[in-house]
Amino acid sequence: MGEFHIAVLGDGHDRSGFTCGVPSLDNFLRTQAGQHARKRVSRTYVVTRKGEATVLGYYTLAADSIPFDEFPPELSKKLPFHDVPAVLLARLAVDVSARGKGLGGDLVTDAFRRVLLLGDAVGVHAVHVHALDDSAAAFYRHHQFQPLPDQPQHLIIPVQTILRLIPPLDPAPSG
Ligand SMILES: CC(C)(COP(=O)(O)OP(=O)(O)OC[C@H]1O[C@@H](n2cnc3c(N)ncnc32)[C@H](O)[C@@H]1OP(=O)(O)O)[C@@H](O)C(=O)NCCC(=O)NCCS
Repeated sequence: MGEFHIAVLGDGHDRSGFTCGVPSLDNFLRTQAGQHARKRVSRTYVVTRKGEATVLGYYTLAADSIPFDEFPPELSKKLPFHDVPAVLLARLAVDVSARGKGLGGDLVTDAFRRVLLLGDAVGVHAVHVHALDDSAAAFYRHHQFQPLPDQPQHLIIPVQTILRLIPPLDPAPSG
């Protein structure tokens, strides 16, 4: 991560040339991400080279919930019988020029850290994604997400699993 920096999308970021190969993901970043943030329906975070404005990748988070009866039964045994509070990893993409350098994984890790911080303030049980295709679903499975029953492109990862994978950066002081 040394040469890269992840920050909330701002006016100074250049996203005009962003190309990940999926037009809807490119267009969202270029034309909608800022608007959605102002309306507080989602928040987008971008990765750039340190000191540069060109966006090389991004992810978007929004509040979400998963119907109890869609949750994997083995994970819902001790949960209350109502919608499961979650965060939606609504979009994630890396520019074609920057693929295979670990940026996608770094963005997932950064999203997980933000979810852990959020989870200190409100109940968040899992992170939820809607994979666009089989390849995206494989990417998320590689990052320990598991598919919802009968919905191979809807995947979740419990926050308890994230805590095992990624300890919080700033644990709350004890006492
Ligand atoms: C999916 C995507 C974000 C991956 O970005 P990337 O920067 O090339 O990925 P990374 O280099 O960070 O790879 C991280 C790890 O995931 C693995 N990986 C990458 N793409 C994968 C895929 N499609 N399936 C399975 N594993 C994959 C890598 O091998 C790597 O493994 P490692 O940590 O064991 O070395 C990128 O290909 C992309 O933007 N695709 C188009 C948009 C898209 O499909 N977004 C997904 C959300 S719908």
